[in-house]
Amino acid sequence: MQDGQAGSHNRYIAFEGIEGAGKSTVAARIADHLTAAGESVVVVREPGGTEVGEHIREILLGGDHAPVAMAEAALFAAARAQLIAEKVTPALDSGSWVLSDRSVYSSLAYQAAGRGLDLEDIRKLNDVALGGIWPQVVVLLRLDAGTGLARQAVGDRIGDEPREFHTTVAEAFDMLAEQDPDRFVVIDAAADPLDVVGQVLDALGVER
Ligand code: TYD
Repeated sequence: MQDGQAGSHNRYIAFEGIEGAGKSTVAARIADHLTAAGESVVVVREPGGTEVGEHIREILLGGDHAPVAMAEAALFAAARAQLIAEKVTPALDSGSWVLSDRSVYSSLAYQAAGRGLDLEDIRKLNDVALGGIWPQVVVLLRLDAGTGLARQAVGDRIGDEPREFHTTVAEAFDMLAEQDPDRFVVIDAAADPLDVVGQVLDALGVER
């Protein structure tokens, strides 16, 4: 579990952090650099990234529904299972990079720490959903909850949780990074955006 080591899977990169950390923007810039270097790149987002996943995203983040915590975790895992089968595995198998805007690590931070579900249960559930394929590198864009929430342009059902929830999530990301230092690259997302992108490129060994 949690290996993500095998062969081509070392090109599966996740971008993580609380709301407003700049994950989407940084992932897009890294994709530009890789593409300019002649690499094939697939960018995906979670939840979503497939037709089934986008329907599940609507259930999860649309304001009208409030699934219980375990249903929420299962729905994130379901969207993830679809994404892995339909997009991530085929891309990795063909030698592409996969840059994922959020990943399984969001479920460990939001559903386990944030919602209070058992961390090992959420790990196991997602290991099954992922078929054992975990991101090889997790770029954690680190930001405090106050700054992140102030930056957030549009809220959603989970993004609109109170600040304490997001503080718990931010602490959980820090804990996950501390426990898994070989996989995590931790970057101060309060820094200048160009600087953040430069640090990620260096960490991935991509020429600037
Ligand atoms: P998204 O629109 O991707 O926003 P952001 O810009 O914050 O990344 O929203 C995804 C929301 O879903 C966000 O509040 C985090 C939450 N989430 C989880 O709670 N668990 C998960 O496994 C994932 C992937 C996301």
